Amino acid sequence: MPEDTEEGAVELEARLEEQDAFEPPAAFVEQANVSDEGIYEEFEENWPECWEQAADLLDWDDDYDQVLDDSDAPFYEWFTDGSLNASYNCIDRHVENGRKNQAAIRWEGELGETRTYTYLDLYNEVNEFAAGLREVGVEEDDVVTMYMPMVPELPIAMLACARIGAPHSVVFAGFSADALATRMNAAESEYLVTCDGYYRRGDPLNHKEKADRGLESVDHDVETVVVDRLGDVQEHSLGEHAHDYDELVEDHAGETVAPVERDAEDMLFLMYTSGTTGQPKGVKHTTGGYLSYVSWTSQAVLDIKPEDTYWCAADIGWITGHSYIVYGPLALGTTTLMYEGTPDYPDRDRLWDMVDRYAVDIFYTAPTAIRAFMKWGADYLEGHDLSSLRLLGTVGEPINPRAWKWYYRHVGGEECPVVDTWWQTETGGMMVTTLPGVGKMKPGSAGPPLPGVSADVVDVAGDPVEAGQAGYLVVNRPWPGMLRTLYNNDERFIEEYWREYSNPDRDEWVYFPEDGAKIDSDGYITVLGRVDDVINVSGHRLGTMEIESAIVGVEGVAEAAVVGGHHDVKGEAVYAYVITEDGYDPSDDLRHQIVEGVEDAIGPIARPEAVVFTPELPKTRSGKIMRRLLEDIANDEELGDTSTLRNPDVVDDIAAKVRSGD
Ligand code: WTA
Repeated sequence: MPEDTEEGAVELEARLEEQDAFEPPAAFVEQANVSDEGIYEEFEENWPECWEQAADLLDWDDDYDQVLDDSDAPFYEWFTDGSLNASYNCIDRHVENGRKNQAAIRWEGELGETRTYTYLDLYNEVNEFAAGLREVGVEEDDVVTMYMPMVPELPIAMLACARIGAPHSVVFAGFSADALATRMNAAESEYLVTCDGYYRRGDPLNHKEKADRGLESVDHDVETVVVDRLGDVQEHSLGEHAHDYDELVEDHAGETVAPVERDAEDMLFLMYTSGTTGQPKGVKHTTGGYLSYVSWTSQAVLDIKPEDTYWCAADIGWITGHSYIVYGPLALGTTTLMYEGTPDYPDRDRLWDMVDRYAVDIFYTAPTAIRAFMKWGADYLEGHDLSSLRLLGTVGEPINPRAWKWYYRHVGGEECPVVDTWWQTETGGMMVTTLPGVGKMKPGSAGPPLPGVSADVVDVAGDPVEAGQAGYLVVNRPWPGMLRTLYNNDERFIEEYWREYSNPDRDEWVYFPEDGAKIDSDGYITVLGRVDDVINVSGHRLGTMEIESAIVGVEGVAEAAVVGGHHDVKGEAVYAYVITEDGYDPSDDLRHQIVEGVEDAIGPIARPEAVVFTPELPKTRSGKIMRRLLEDIANDEELGDTSTLRNPDVVDDIAAKVRSGD
C-alpha cells in the first residue's frame, strides 16, 4: 500500500472506513500466549474447573479444596480453603526464580525524572514499608486508605498492605477532600497513606492540604503516612499522628516481613465506586479469585510476557490500575510502566515519546484518550518509533469505530491487534473482549465473552434478545474475579446486582452490570452504556445522584437533576439542570458556586459542562424527574414522548435555554 503518498493515505483511509472486521495479524498470532480457538470449548466443557488454569498461574501456600462453592449463591466462593499471599506472588517468587534484577516498575515523573525498581528493589522497599506499617499500628484485616497520585510508593504501599494482610482502599487522587472522608468513614479506615503533592502540567499541586481537609471530616482517629514527592519545591509539616514515609522505610532498612498467609476468600482490597444512590459502593475483592483472574486475563488478553515492557496509561486510583498496572502484570513478573502526569505535557506527543524511549510492547488506554489523540492529529506521532508495540487495548467506555481504526492504523501501524475490553470495578477483570491471538476484531464491538464467561443480552423479562436488538447485558455464571459483596452491605449487593430466575432444575442467579448492549449473530457484544444513573466522563464513572446532592448543597439551589450529554472527546459530559430557591436569582455567580460545590464534593472530573437554570424540571405525574428527556435536550436530539409529563411545556423552555447557551 503506497501509504507515503497523499493519494495512498486517502485510499487506505477509505479502505479502513469500509472494513468492519479485522483478522489478528499473523505475526502476532504466532507468538500469542493463547492462539487456539479450542479454548472456548475447552473452558465450556470443563466449567468451573477450567479456572484452575488461572489459579495455576499463582503460588499457593495451601492448595484449595474446591474451585467454586456455590452453596450460598450469590455469595460465591472460589478456590475454597486455599491460601496464598498476593505480595509474595507479585514479588518474592520472581526474586526467588532468578529474576531479581529485572525491572518490575519503571516510573517517569511529569518533569522527566525517572526511577526503576527491579524486583529486588521492590522486594526490599515493600518489606521495609510493611514493617513500617506494622510499627504505625496496622494489623491484619485493618483497612488502609491510600490517597495518592501516580508515584511508585502507591503500588509499594498496596503490596506492603497485601503482605501483612491489611486490605487497601485506594481513593483516586483527583477526588476531593469530602470524597476521601466519605470513603474513610464508610470503611472505618484508621490509616491513611498520602503524599505532599505532585506535578500537573508542570506545576506542583498541593495534595496534602486536600488530604488534611478530608481528615477533618473523618469521625475517628487516623494515623497518616506522608510521601515526600516534592521535596524543597513545596514544604510541608507533619502533625502528631503523621509519619514520614522515607523515615519509616529507613528505620526498617533491611528488615523483612514474612508474607501473611491469607485465605483465598480473604479481602485483598476495597474499591469505592459510584452507583445509583448517592452513597459510593465499597466493592470487595478477594485474594485468591481476584489475583488468579487478573493474572489469567493479563496473560490471555494482554498477552503479557515476563520480558515485556507493558504500559497501562490509566491511574491506579481506578480499578484498571489495580488490576492491570499493579496486580496482573506484577503477578506475571513483567515490567510495568507508570507515568505521573498528563498526556499533553510538555507537548501532545508525550506518550509516543515514552513508547519510543521505553520500547513499550503493550499499550492499554481509554477511548477518551484515543479520541483526544485523534483530535490532536497523527502528526504528533511522527518521528517517534512505535515499532516496539505488539498489542493495543482499550477500556472504560464504548469506542466508536472511527477512533478504533485511528488507533489501529496510526498507533499500531496495522500490525497490532486491538482488544476492546469490557469490564467493571465489580468484575475485577476483563469479561467481554476478543482473545487477540484467536478472534477477529470488529471495531466498536468488544467481542465475545471470554472463555468460561457466560454473558448475554436480554430483555426486561430476562429472555435473550435477537441479534441486533438492544437489551441488558447479563452475566449468567460466577467468575473468579467477581466482587464478593459490598462492604458491610450484603443486602445492597444482592439488590444492586443480582436477580434470581427460577429454573425447573435449580435456582439461577444472574448478574446485572447495569449496562445496555447489543449482540450480533457471531455472539459479539457491543456495549452501549449505562442503564442506571451512572455517567461515564472520560472513562471515569460518576453517580448522577452524588453530583445532584453536591449541587443541592449549594446555598440558593432548591432542586437539581444531572444527566450525561454526548461529548466528542470525553464520551459523556455532565449537564446540570437547576431550580433556584425562592429569593435567589439565576446568576453567573451562582453557577460558579455550583461548579465549585461539585468540585468540593467529588472533584474536578465531575465538573458540570453546563449548568442550566430552569423554573421547573420535567416530571411524570407521580413526580419522577424524566431524565431521558433531559438527556435528549443535552444531546440536542429530537425530544421523546412528553405525553406522560405533568408539565410538558417546560421541556421546550429548557431546550430553548440550552440552545441559546443561557
Ligand atoms: C463502561 C472500568 C463499553 C461500562 C474498567 C461499565 C465499557 C463501566 C467498556 C465500568 C468497554 C467499561 N466498552 N463500555 N470496553 N469498559 N465500560 O467500574 O459502562 O470504572 O459498566 O470499570 O464502564 O466502569 P468502571
